[in-house]
Amino acid sequence: MPLVGSELLRTARAERHGVGAFNVIGIDHAEALVAAAEAAQLPVILQVSENAAKYHAATGAPGLAPISRATAEIAAAASVPVVLHLDHAIDEALIDEALGLGFGSVMFDGAHLPDAENIERTAAVAQRAHAAGVWVEAELGEVGGKEHQPRSAHEPGVKTDPLQAKEFVELTGVDALAVAVGSQHAMTERSAALDTERIAAIADAVPVPLVLHGSSGVPDAEIVAGVAAGLTKINVSTHLNKVYTGAVRKYLADNPTVVDPRKYTTAARAAMRDETARLLRLIHGA
Ligand code: G3H
Ligand code: ZN
Repeated sequence: MPLVGSELLRTARAERHGVGAFNVIGIDHAEALVAAAEAAQLPVILQVSENAAKYHAATGAPGLAPISRATAEIAAAASVPVVLHLDHAIDEALIDEALGLGFGSVMFDGAHLPDAENIERTAAVAQRAHAAGVWVEAELGEVGGKEHQPRSAHEPGVKTDPLQAKEFVELTGVDALAVAVGSQHAMTERSAALDTERIAAIADAVPVPLVLHGSSGVPDAEIVAGVAAGLTKINVSTHLNKVYTGAVRKYLADNPTVVDPRKYTTAARAAMRDETARLLRLIHGA
């Protein structure tokens, strides 16, 4: 099914469903995530981050283009709606590149900037992206926990203020807002607690879908409660990498003489697909 854009999150917000958004590092990830969405018969958002683009660029290849084009082709062949999203872009040149690569939405990550600069630069990005028909997500407050995170104008863990969020959305014109409500990036244990009262207050104040980053550390029941309180886009990456890598470890331990990578990546892809399908249903509320 061709890529769809903003309607997915707008409709989900109106109907109080969550939508799963998962990160793509390589083609195996894109295949596993789309297979999961088809198994669950639910839409999915595939995210390529600035860090993933840098990982591919480190080989000398153009970082964003190959992985994005491959992901977009896999998405376009899917039987369910799939949106391609640029995740955590600090480099505005990368955003401009994404606008020509079939992305349905982009995230400008200015959470580390002083508020006035975050507002000014986010508004400028929103204007350019909207002219290209692309949605924009931005972050207010700071989820924290990202590797190599630039020095922050906020203390890590500072939560998003509802009134400041309202003003930020009005001034920038963004279409979705990432909020700091108790989660943290890159947790390998699921022990975070969400501030559901704050989520409900922000959702009341802000007319656009809210995004939860760092959802890997959030237990199932908290995700369900967060969606019920007003979250729409739920970003999960580390947890699925843990599932993928765990399956590789198990396969190689069980089959110590195997040398063909396709053997263990097939096992890893299947494990990632099954856990993603489970998460998609949980997040959707099915
Ligand atoms: O933008 C991506 C997400 O916020 C993923 O965070 O790796 O902690 O699940 P996570
Ligand atoms: Zn994130």
